[in-house]
Amino acid sequence: MMRVGLVGGTGKLGRGLALRLASAGHEVWLGSRDAERADRVAADLGVDVRPVTNAAACAAADIVVVVVPYRGQAQVLRGLGEQTAGKPVVSAVVPLVVDAAGPRPLDVSEGSAAEQCQVLLGAARVVAGLQWVPAPSLLKLDAVLEMDVPLCSDDDDAVAAAVELCDAIKGLRAFHAGPLRLARSLEGLTPLLMSVNKRYHGHTSMRFPGLDLAAGRPEA
Ligand SMILES: NC(=O)c1ccc[n+]([C@@H]2O[C@H](COP(=O)([O-])OP(=O)(O)OC[C@H]3O[C@@H](n4cnc5c(N)ncnc54)[C@H](OP(=O)(O)O)[C@@H]3O)[C@@H](O)[C@H]2O)c1
Repeated sequence: MMRVGLVGGTGKLGRGLALRLASAGHEVWLGSRDAERADRVAADLGVDVRPVTNAAACAAADIVVVVVPYRGQAQVLRGLGEQTAGKPVVSAVVPLVVDAAGPRPLDVSEGSAAEQCQVLLGAARVVAGLQWVPAPSLLKLDAVLEMDVPLCSDDDDAVAAAVELCDAIKGLRAFHAGPLRLARSLEGLTPLLMSVNKRYHGHTSMRFPGLDLAAGRPEA
């Protein structure tokens, strides 16, 4: 059992993760800027989660997942350095804008939202991942998931914790995909997936066929 803190847990992806992870037996601390909003969302979810502020969610957690819009992440994360120090922090944040022509990626001066997260949190062990997992599929408990979750990080132990987290959700296959500086590639693909899903009314994601994950594990 892991204690999972969700920063922005009241949103679409946060609720989907909370539902799946709590159903799998993990202890979920559902964070919000507003503890009362967290209370309301937790009551609606119908599973056992702990509604708290974002700071309390990070303080209680073994692993944190950041699920806030990119436009809000700097403000939210600036106050969470102490509570996340030394902990694995998964950034699912995608820097994008949606205009009349649909979604498009945004440039980030740090390279990616996940690298900005690392700068803002300082001593956290940031892992970029989950950007391709559509919330509607998580929220529908009977939906069959068949999705790969590549993870980018400079910390192998943090990746191992993130893999354990993802493994709790049936149908997700998470693996180490490279250093944190490649996070922009993960984030940059999401607008394309959103466009495909909108055009074909789906909730598709990505698979990497032909991978032997055991061969890619670091030597013991
Ligand atoms: N939705 C998906 O399918 C999906 C899939 C993969 C990745 N992502 C990425 O995951 C992140 C969360 O997505 P989402 O769809 O769950 O987002 P969302 O529902 O729009 O927002 C998530 C939560 O973030 C907080 N929030 C909203 N605006 C904020 C702001 N300006 N500043 C600080 N906090 C704010 C809110 O929580 P409180 O008001 O309770 O604080 C909100 O409930 C995004 O970066 C998105 O690109 C989403």
